[in-house]
Amino acid sequence: MVAERMASIRPFYVMELLARARTMEQEGRSVIHMEVGEPDFETPGPIVEAGKRALDAGSSHYTPAAGIIELRRAIADDYRKRFGVQLDPSRILVTPGSSGALQLVMSILINPGEGVMMADPGYPCNRNFVHLVSGEPVTIPVDAGTGYQLTAEMVERSWRDNIRAVMVASPSNPTGTLLKRDELERIHRVVKSRGGVLIVDEIYQGLVYDGTPFSALEISDDLFIINSFSKFYGMTGWRLGWLVAPASYVGAADRLAQNIFLAASTPAQHAALAAFDDETQAIVTSRRDAFRERRDYLLPELRRLGFEISRVPEGAFYLYANVSGITDDSARFAHDLLEQEGVAITPGKDFGDYLPEQHVRFAYTTSMEKLKEGVVRIERFLNQG
Ligand SMILES: Cc1ncc(COP(=O)(O)O)c(C=O)c1O
Repeated sequence: MVAERMASIRPFYVMELLARARTMEQEGRSVIHMEVGEPDFETPGPIVEAGKRALDAGSSHYTPAAGIIELRRAIADDYRKRFGVQLDPSRILVTPGSSGALQLVMSILINPGEGVMMADPGYPCNRNFVHLVSGEPVTIPVDAGTGYQLTAEMVERSWRDNIRAVMVASPSNPTGTLLKRDELERIHRVVKSRGGVLIVDEIYQGLVYDGTPFSALEISDDLFIINSFSKFYGMTGWRLGWLVAPASYVGAADRLAQNIFLAASTPAQHAALAAFDDETQAIVTSRRDAFRERRDYLLPELRRLGFEISRVPEGAFYLYANVSGITDDSARFAHDLLEQEGVAITPGKDFGDYLPEQHVRFAYTTSMEKLKEGVVRIERFLNQG
């Protein structure tokens, strides 16, 4: 018998869709992938080379649980260069993906029965990380009116005695929308005044197309930051992320990391040192431009086809569309679109319980050419329906 907590852990439906898409491809059908939340680009060459060199040099042993100091310093340095933030590297813990950071942060903060407030729709795994520590995900419905983000007023209004933490993501998955700096400041103030803790997921921070990106660390030291090499640096499979914790929590996070991970991947850590080189930065910056170009192509095309996307999402690589003008069942829509036209998208039910049947997520993590072919197929599908 599996433990009772497993009853709360829902599957990630997109994985089922992906499995079906892969089967179709094995049967010789062509599939346009707009469901996958990872860049189609390979890891930049300088990072791969640094990883190879590390392996050749025998870097295959455990590192300290919080990561190699060179990488922690390089990350701190990047915050200084990018955002003017002075950050003591001792507050940075390198983790197996930001998923490792999420597991650490929930484990060191949340007692059984304590609540973590978060937006619905949101990244589905967050709810499950909370369940894993027997906490209660307190999901707050958000819509286009607030850019699919929590506001300070919502946090205030929805506060309950058991709430220990509030979690936000900017840019968000599945919506690609940002939290404005002044709103984040207000949210931080409300959370502090209630004696809670703010967790800010910045894993799409490198992928912001409009406006000036900022880090929540510019606002305060007294919050948790989740980040990753997965998306901006195209390193999903290397499994490398990081947590920035307030100084008073670092000891607990380190102690837990020693026990549950021992350390993040050693070759990946050495490889990631090359992420901050000029050569790599030039590569990832031009990729960001390519993502922006894709967004600027796909968004008007989807609107033309009847998908409602009321605001231009400023970051990540997702478009979250209201499909109520087209269907009343987004999961069936995604299923039929895949079966009939070989276009894979993610139905809203993966991201929460707030009007999931009215929404789908498109990921522009595939080439412009394939996006164009995807649009042709979607149009044909809609005309048939
Ligand atoms: C918002 C958000 N946070 C965290 C993650 C986890 O990513 P990783 O563990 O690869 O860093 C993802 C992955 O899709 C995500 O979208």
